[in-house]
Amino acid sequence: MKRIVLLLLVLSVVFGMAGPVFAAGGGEKKSQSDLSVGIVLPTKDEPRWLQDEAWFNDALDEAGYSVEILFSQGDPARERANVEALISKGIKVLIICPHDGAAAASAADEAKKSGVSVISYDRLITGTPNVDYYVTFNSITVGEEFGKYLVANAKGKNNNLYLYAGAATDNNAFLFFEGAWNILQPRIADGTFVIRNSSEAVALSGKQKLTREEMGKIIGQVTTNWDFNVAKNLAEANLTSVGPGAKGEVFIAAPNDGTARSIADVFAADPDVTKYYISGQDAEKASIQYIIDGKQSMTVFKDVRTLVKDAISAAVAILEGDKPLAYGVYNNGATDVLAIQSEVITVTKENLKKALIDSGYYKASEFSGL
Ligand code: BGC
Repeated sequence: MKRIVLLLLVLSVVFGMAGPVFAAGGGEKKSQSDLSVGIVLPTKDEPRWLQDEAWFNDALDEAGYSVEILFSQGDPARERANVEALISKGIKVLIICPHDGAAAASAADEAKKSGVSVISYDRLITGTPNVDYYVTFNSITVGEEFGKYLVANAKGKNNNLYLYAGAATDNNAFLFFEGAWNILQPRIADGTFVIRNSSEAVALSGKQKLTREEMGKIIGQVTTNWDFNVAKNLAEANLTSVGPGAKGEVFIAAPNDGTARSIADVFAADPDVTKYYISGQDAEKASIQYIIDGKQSMTVFKDVRTLVKDAISAAVAILEGDKPLAYGVYNNGATDVLAIQSEVITVTKENLKKALIDSGYYKASEFSGL
């Protein structure tokens, strides 16, 4: 019951919501400014964040309220303006997924100065002590799942490996890469894989633990910038510059579903590519259809319902003067940020129905050929 009351309280923060809110049970009247949370997400242009918006709205609607969620559209200046707008509306807790983790530090500083607690959501804000909590998935595991899938399907030696990464402005891109490298590097060193699209990765292939700077060098060569078109152009450029010997059966570490679909389409269209295995993450609807159709091999399912629930619970705890339950820390370059972390599930054609349909994440009717 306490949880429902708390949920109602946090939901009452809602901007533009008319009238006072009564806390169930206690009958105490809360004005809008008594308890408030603001949410800022990075962009509407990537399906991942529309999933988060939908699940936030769902969680909030369930209690009979609507909430205003602001999007930064990949623009740090707009992100800052969004945060300022929310602060001026009297929020007490900011849940923010930064477009650019380093640039968002100043927004976190400003929030803190105004007495607002900051929860970094999915992506870590770096370079500032003014982040109270980090609600996230285990992003190193996500990358390790990419690597494990590719390793499990590679037979013999000299398998063609293509590496791709997310945006260097996103701390997660480093974590995903680190995870993939943890698993792939020993198999590169023993000759199972040959990297075909990064001279920096080839140069560092004898090293199991890379520094951030070293990872940055590789990411600089293989970044998609989380952009479908950049991913497509890069894959095309990679396939143009290698000979047919680097094609045939290929293994592709793609950093998320959106870029995986772009890259997969490029590889599928090359007559010299006979078969490809490709990773992804987010369990985006379009990628689930790709997996059903045999065009994408796997995705890492990050159940956004859990992340949303964790973020709301953390906000409620802060508003109540409690400490959210955090089990670990992430160093953001300025401090160790307390973290609340969720696990992930690897999804292939084999377990797709169980993981995504039976769990109620999607409806079977949203797909064809299931
Ligand atoms: C998120 C991924 C997402 C990517 C691109 C990352 O920070 O963790 O789920 O696919 O950003 O938006």
